[in-house]
Amino acid sequence: MKKVLITGGAGYIGSHIALALLDRDREVVVVDNLVNGSLQALARVETITGKKLFFYHGDIRSAADLDNIFRRHHIGEVIHMAGLKSVSESISRPDDYYQNNVVGTLNLLDSMRRARVRRLIFSSSATVYGPQPCCPVDESCPTGATTNPYGTTKLIAEHYLRELAAAEPQLAITALRYFNPIGAHESGLIGEDPCGIPTNLLPYIFQVAIGKLEHLCVYGTDYPTPDGTGVRDYIHIMDLAAGHLKALDNLQPGFRVYNLGTGKGYSVMEIINAVEKISGRQIKWQPRKRRKGDAAECYADPSLAQRELSWQAERCLEKMIADAWRWHSAYPQGYVKE
Ligand code: NAD
Ligand code: WQD
Repeated sequence: MKKVLITGGAGYIGSHIALALLDRDREVVVVDNLVNGSLQALARVETITGKKLFFYHGDIRSAADLDNIFRRHHIGEVIHMAGLKSVSESISRPDDYYQNNVVGTLNLLDSMRRARVRRLIFSSSATVYGPQPCCPVDESCPTGATTNPYGTTKLIAEHYLRELAAAEPQLAITALRYFNPIGAHESGLIGEDPCGIPTNLLPYIFQVAIGKLEHLCVYGTDYPTPDGTGVRDYIHIMDLAAGHLKALDNLQPGFRVYNLGTGKGYSVMEIINAVEKISGRQIKWQPRKRRKGDAAECYADPSLAQRELSWQAERCLEKMIADAWRWHSAYPQGYVKE
């Protein structure tokens, strides 16, 4: 059987997908430039699965790096996860985001064309929808009202892939729009390891729980939601990984797009309460004004993926937090920096 290439496979989501693929007896090749990934994550994936993967320290902006991999391995499918993902950083460094997320994607597709590899899963994001007037958000909701360069780069990459698939009918491309991935593999050996001070809710709360940060700032306590705080659709990382396996199984010529979410929203206060209950630690928090560009609520209608991919998220919020807590409490410093 041909191998699966994961770009960005040493990162948070990619390492969990590598694990799920190895567990399924697929051969995995990872390319990552390690700007935000860890070799230790991949070593632990090998320990957990008892299987080896192939790793290349390379950059998706380099045709030579990619061509080399396609020459050395018989790749059947690519899962394209490599990219930059910080909303705040994208506002101060938009050029880096366009280079990595847009130019990098074009470069990858060029290299795939030379290698005659025609099957691709693309990591997109619910951020392409921008703020929506109502929830749940389904795939027919309008896109384009992105509120930051990160979101715009994801949307541009989606447009490019859709138009390329229309022009080259042998291409089979699926874009997966993730809602809010959290949690960790249940071994507690791999998980999310953000650089510096996290901007996303869960990694921030866990740093408060382990005593690295003093308190959480809750951005907005006056939203029109039941307790006034923002509501999001948090999805367990292993459910997200399972969604990728189903998307691979169901890849067909053309371009498709699916939401990967649970369909259920939780507020910031509900998350704080759940982390306190599961960790036994108090989470100090302070109210702050709303964060610019944030929606009051955002949760998915995941029924298209259920119908067409036979996938649905199975793990509850308690499991997401318990698995993440196992990782953060065992490895408060994350991976050892290489
Ligand atoms: P991550 O930063 O942990 O992983 C991305 C990986 O890509 C890192 O290991 C990084 O070193 C690598 N990388 C970055 N630029 C590269 C380049 N030019 N060449 C090679 N490797 C490069 O992020 P993640 O949370 O695992 O996200 C993976 C993908 O999913 C990203 O494309 C992200 O935009 C998308 N996504 C993430 C979320 C989320 O909340 N985590 C939500 C929606 C979509
Ligand atoms: C969740 C809720 C905040 C931090 C972002 C990206 C999106 C996607 C996922 C990649 C909101 C509140 C947060 C804090 C808080 N990433 N919050 N205090 O904004 O839904 O989505 O990550 O594609 O593109 O925009 O996630 O975790 O930042 O916020 O009160 O310190 O927690 O206001 O209501 P978000 P988040």
